[in-house]
Amino acid sequence: MTLTNKVALITGGNGFLGQYFVTALKNAGATVVVTDRDNAEINLDVTSKSSITDAFEQAISKYGKVDIVINNAALDPKFDANAEQNAKLFENYPEELIKQSLDVNLLGYTLVAQEAIKRMLAQGSGNIINVSSIYGVVGPDQSIYPEGTQKPVDYFITKGGVVMLTKFLATTYGNKGIRVNTLTLGGVFKGHGKDFTDKYGARTPMGRMANPEEVGGPLVFLASDNSSYMTGANLIVDGGLTAW
Ligand SMILES: NC(=O)c1ccc[n+]([C@@H]2O[C@H](COP(=O)([O-])OP(=O)(O)OC[C@H]3O[C@@H](n4cnc5c(N)ncnc54)[C@H](O)[C@@H]3O)[C@@H](O)[C@H]2O)c1
Repeated sequence: MTLTNKVALITGGNGFLGQYFVTALKNAGATVVVTDRDNAEINLDVTSKSSITDAFEQAISKYGKVDIVINNAALDPKFDANAEQNAKLFENYPEELIKQSLDVNLLGYTLVAQEAIKRMLAQGSGNIINVSSIYGVVGPDQSIYPEGTQKPVDYFITKGGVVMLTKFLATTYGNKGIRVNTLTLGGVFKGHGKDFTDKYGARTPMGRMANPEEVGGPLVFLASDNSSYMTGANLIVDGGLTAW
């Protein structure tokens, strides 16, 4: 149990991967504060500073401290040829959708980190993990998506920004007992069709998408003292996709 006596707060904890992250953290012995925009143990909307402050206050009054913060809540535009927003090509992609992603995926992570850093400076220690994607590291191969459509740009520019947020925080607070790392994930299987999984698999040295059970271990590693000399790093869990 590597996370015994640790309190971990996760954003977007009700989502697809959030639930696997929460289970892994609990299995490692952590007390987990599951937050989400709504319907969570503690509601935390990452686009609202007052909601973030309020959630941290609730967590600290309930559990005494927050040792680990996982920035996970993000808009992840899924490819769906029938959905108008995703059917649009880059040259037509609406400004409002880009702003929405910037607000949640990039400004949201930054505002949560600001609140976390304040608390962690006061307690003299802390650990922040920013969840990113291979699409924060490499551009898309649009040919794996259905013809005439594209994976939208907002995911790439925000996920790339997250990698730099990590580096900024790591170098600025490295001497204050606070570690900050990125956990970069490749595509995780969630009932995708065979056409997509075949194309995605062909682009991946391991030949397949991740299974959701495979994301928790790397998160627990970054959250625990097993990674005590790591900060500013980007742990890439992608079946080798970005090695090609
Ligand atoms: N699923 C994948 O294949 C995959 C691959 C690589 C990276 N990721 C990353 O993993 C993380 C989780 O992805 P997921 O697949 O679980 O997504 P998801 O859409 O299933 O979950 C996202 C969660 O964030 C919450 N959320 C949205 N806006 C919010 C806001 N304003 N405030 C608070 N919460 C808000 C949603 O309610 C939801 O519960 C994301 O950062 C994503 O970029 C996912």
